[in-house]
Order: sequence, then structure tokens, then C-alpha cells
Amino acid sequence: MLFRESPEKFWNLIASKYAASPIADIAAYEKKIAKLKSYLSPTDHLLDIGCGTGTQCDDLASNVKQVTGIDISGKLLAIAEQRRGERKIDNVEFIQTTVFDARFEPGSFDVVTAFYVLHFFEDIDAAFGRIHGLLRPDGLFILETACLGEKGKITGKFVRLGGKLGFLPLINLLTTRQIEQALEQAGFGIVDKTKFSESNDEYTLIARKLK
Ligand SMILES: C[S@@+](CC[C@H](N)C(=O)[O-])C[C@H]1O[C@@H](n2cnc3c(N)ncnc32)[C@H](O)[C@@H]1O
Repeated sequence: MLFRESPEKFWNLIASKYAASPIADIAAYEKKIAKLKSYLSPTDHLLDIGCGTGTQCDDLASNVKQVTGIDISGKLLAIAEQRRGERKIDNVEFIQTTVFDARFEPGSFDVVTAFYVLHFFEDIDAAFGRIHGLLRPDGLFILETACLGEKGKITGKFVRLGGKLGFLPLINLLTTRQIEQALEQAGFGIVDKTKFSESNDEYTLIARKLK
């Protein structure tokens, strides 16, 4: 099956397995959620891009007014909706769409989050430009991204080749430096950069819309 043109098919196919896999480092995850909550306000509308099973949406919901989780995978969103219901959270909605959905109005979000999804965007500048446009002045963009451009060249190249051949979704071999530069270029200032877990290489970046 070729996923290059329809990556949602990949995520639908692995949805049950993905949903069943536990968070790798619970202590680090809880530390991260606690820190992110300290940046949120009860009046905030938060957009989570590539929300998957909605874990972060649900975990951050108590500190904001509204969460909108978006994802391309209908199957992952169905699991997200079920989990949201089980936790009796009523200020989270899930929509099957992308960040470029024209229904999202400029300046309409206070916070945008993107956990482990931005490496699936081939044009990171276009994505950051769109996110910048969706945020209100001074709004926050919180991101955590697989930086396969940093890791062993063979792993990254292998994964990207799999994407080019259509066996995997196409993955952009990003580096932390590249992400930081693209953020600055899009009009963000980085206000925090933390590596919560020793078991992976990724940083959680908190960036503020500057202009
Ligand atoms: C590695 S999972 C991360 C899920 C969740 N953010 C988390 O941290 O557990 C990547 C998610 O991004 C979604 N995704 C991939 N490309 C996307 C796109 N262009 N727009 C929105 N979601 C996308 C996938 O369906 C999947 O749910």
C-alpha cells in the first residue's frame, strides 16, 4: 500500500496499535504537562495539530476554556473521542482536518500545540506561517518534533526513503537548529527550550508570536 499521497491511510492502519502503546517516559511526560499548564490561561482556546488519540488535549483541557484537536486520521480521532467521553471532559472537540482548513480564522487561537507531527510537513515554513497567522498577537506555539536530521544519517535516510517509496508517510529530516531558525523567520521568539526525557533527543519548544 502506498501512503505517500494519503498518509491518513497509514495512521488508520496502525491506529489500534498506536493507541495501545504506552507513553515511554511517564515521569517526563507529567513534568512536561505540568510545565505547559503553567503557560495556559482559563480563557485560552488551544489548537492541537496532529492530536492522535487526544492524550495531550485531554491532559491540558483543565487549564483552558476550549481545546480543538485536529488530525487526518478518522480512526485515531474515534479513539480520541471515546477516551474524552470516558474521562468526562466537555471542553475538547476533535475535527478530522489539517491546519490549513479555511474554517480556522486568523488570530482565533491563543495557543497552538504540535507534538510529534511537524516532521510530516514537507514545507515547515508554510506550516509555521499558517500557525503564526492563526495565533492572536502574543499567542503561544508549543512544539515537540522528531528531529531525524540529527540522528544517525542511515536511520533518517532509511525512513525518508520509505516515505518516498510510499511504505511510510513522507518524513522531513529536520534538525532542532532548522526548526529554531524557521520559528524566528516566521515571527516567533523562543521563550523556553526544555528536554524533559533523557531517553530521547527531542526538545519541547515554547515560542511566542512576536509580530
Ligand atoms: C506520531 S503521531 C503523534 C500524535 C500525538 N500528537 C501524540 O503526541 O501522541 C502523529 C499524528 O499526526 C497525524 N498527522 C500526520 N500528518 C498530519 C497532518 N498533515 N495534519 C494533521 N495531522 C497529521 C497522524 O494522523 C498522527 O495522529
